[in-house]
Amino acid sequence: MITDVNPFIYSHPIAPEDIIDRDEETEQLLASAVGGHYVRLYAPRKYGKTSLLRRVLRDAGRREGMIPILVDLYGVLSIADVAIRFERAYARQLRGKVRSRVEEFLQSTGLGLSLGALGVSARLQLDPRTDPLPALHALLDLPLRLEEGGGFRALIVLDEFQDITKVKQMDALLRSHIQFQGEVASFVFAGSEPGLMRELFEDRERPLYGQAVPLRLERLADADIAAYIVDRFRVTGRSVGDALNPLVAVARGHPQRAMLLAYRLWAATEPGGTAELGDWTRAHAAALAELQPEFDANWRRLSTSAQKALRAVVAGGGSPFQRRVLEQLDLPKSTARAALQSLVANATVEQKDDDYVIIDPLFAEWIANLRETSGEV
Ligand SMILES: Nc1ncnc2c1ncn2[C@@H]1O[C@H](COP(=O)(O)OP(=O)(O)O)[C@@H](O)[C@H]1O
Ligand SMILES: [Mg+2]
Repeated sequence: MITDVNPFIYSHPIAPEDIIDRDEETEQLLASAVGGHYVRLYAPRKYGKTSLLRRVLRDAGRREGMIPILVDLYGVLSIADVAIRFERAYARQLRGKVRSRVEEFLQSTGLGLSLGALGVSARLQLDPRTDPLPALHALLDLPLRLEEGGGFRALIVLDEFQDITKVKQMDALLRSHIQFQGEVASFVFAGSEPGLMRELFEDRERPLYGQAVPLRLERLADADIAAYIVDRFRVTGRSVGDALNPLVAVARGHPQRAMLLAYRLWAATEPGGTAELGDWTRAHAAALAELQPEFDANWRRLSTSAQKALRAVVAGGGSPFQRRVLEQLDLPKSTARAALQSLVANATVEQKDDDYVIIDPLFAEWIANLRETSGEV
């Protein structure tokens, strides 16, 4: 049996106990949930939204007696997809008496809905002409049914919420239900694309305009990352030594990149040993090599002006509009400006005061290396 297990997780949401910091955000989300306020949680991909939300849902259930439901809307393209995601979310998360009551109600609708193994997706598969809309209406009304039985408030988290923009009128449909649920359900809408989230919540013409308070997840503090890494090396019989500082500097507070680098460094360190600078160099290179296919795919998807704008951010050290930089890349200022705007909208770049920062520090490094290495690591 393997007992010497790498304590750093970087490929999926982490358990509530493993989360660095985020205490204030947890409390804020819980307070909003209890008070019946809706929140839109924004952070770039891999900043720990899902991990944080799972912690909030756990605490809302345990501490506040709420009914916690997480619905992942990643990749939905149709009303049928959304209906299936809601049904499965309830199927996974409802327990006990509430579950039996909801199951009874769903069966009674005659729409093919069920919390069992064969739910509405089976119905849709058997008869593809089935209209999924009535099923979705019934599912969106469930918070009202939950409440009928005993005065519970539900906390419903809609993760990867920006993907509903791919389903026509989905925001209007949602609004038409949640506007009658103020007394029985609280909602959190979480998303990673600021452009789409803004479109959904900040455009006066859109149904969800002004419906949720914004909350942003920022980078982690260096000191918090450092303390966590030191601790996890220690409890697994290793010491992080001098490799800690360069690691924290490279990670720049990016939660997932910090964990990836720590994972690699731990793997490069002898059991019982102390990480040396050489181990760090190998770990860093291994992390970049692992990400090469992802970065290459991202890069190829970008337009030429976006590629040039990213190169300008790197070459200008955060100030892409310097004349020297733009001239060398043959990039007109107005083109750079427009390209950066869409890179900010899709969370590739963020703007901090007058500076532009590439959100993923390892992608920034990869871009900086491009000039010399033609993309090979
Ligand atoms: N607060 C945190 N503490 C430790 N690791 C974190 C934290 N937030 C994110 N991570 C790292 O990022 C990875 C992705 O987290 P996840 O919750 O899936 O992010 P998101 O939902 O924003 O894409 C996790 O596997 C973990 O390595
Ligand atoms: Mg997530």
